[in-house]
Amino acid sequence: MYQRLTKKLIHLEEVDSTNRYATDLIKSARVLDGTTVLARQQLAGRGQRSANWTTEAGKNLTFSTILFPDIPPEKVFYLNVVGALSVCKALSELGIAAAIKWPNDVLVKQKKISGILVENTFSGQQLASSVIGIGLNVNQTAFRHLPRATSVVNELGVEQPLSEVFDQLFAHLDGCVDLLYAHRFDELKRLYDAHFYRLGERAEFASKEGVIAAKIIGINAVGQLLLEVGGRQKAYDIKDVALIY
Ligand code: BTN
Repeated sequence: MYQRLTKKLIHLEEVDSTNRYATDLIKSARVLDGTTVLARQQLAGRGQRSANWTTEAGKNLTFSTILFPDIPPEKVFYLNVVGALSVCKALSELGIAAAIKWPNDVLVKQKKISGILVENTFSGQQLASSVIGIGLNVNQTAFRHLPRATSVVNELGVEQPLSEVFDQLFAHLDGCVDLLYAHRFDELKRLYDAHFYRLGERAEFASKEGVIAAKIIGINAVGQLLLEVGGRQKAYDIKDVALIY
């Protein structure tokens, strides 16, 4: 199979956060595109909106892939697209249908199975490097205090070898990165839309102004969420709204 990314894997038994480790690596060494840091356990896994990402040691995939994308800065949202799509494709290969809750939570039957945290560095206006951090729940069966979490084993009823799931996921990541590097943003958006959770439906969103009831129209060219509110279309940034399931 064609492979664009270097599959240089750094396996760690324990780390605070693979995203933190990967970000430091970029600063301290010459790193190849695709270098990936995997951890058996994260002690301070980072989530979106300053949340934590906590999972049971040795049961799940927690890794960060370093990329050097030559893309316009206004297209950085597509790194989220690449991450979420690769997870959906890997799950589909396992026989699990998944949806992407904007911006990049991956859900199975309305429960979160995977979260993605993209952290970018810029040189002036230009994107210099990106770290795509992916947490995918694989063999963990119980999620204390997280009633809306699920895993591959909870969906399939059988445990999966982590290394095989990683290999499949990395192959899909490679394929999606290929589209990204070829600037095939329309194709990536088409694939993202095909997995869009509750696209075209009315839903409720938490915002600074309180709860908004709106129809989900999709994303615009820069990845903002388009909602139809009171008959008018409005675009929202990630920090401004969150879908209430
Ligand atoms: C979310 O809040 O949904 C995003 C979670 C992202 C978790 C992954 S696990 C691997 C990588 N390292 C981190 O510290 N976070 C990401």
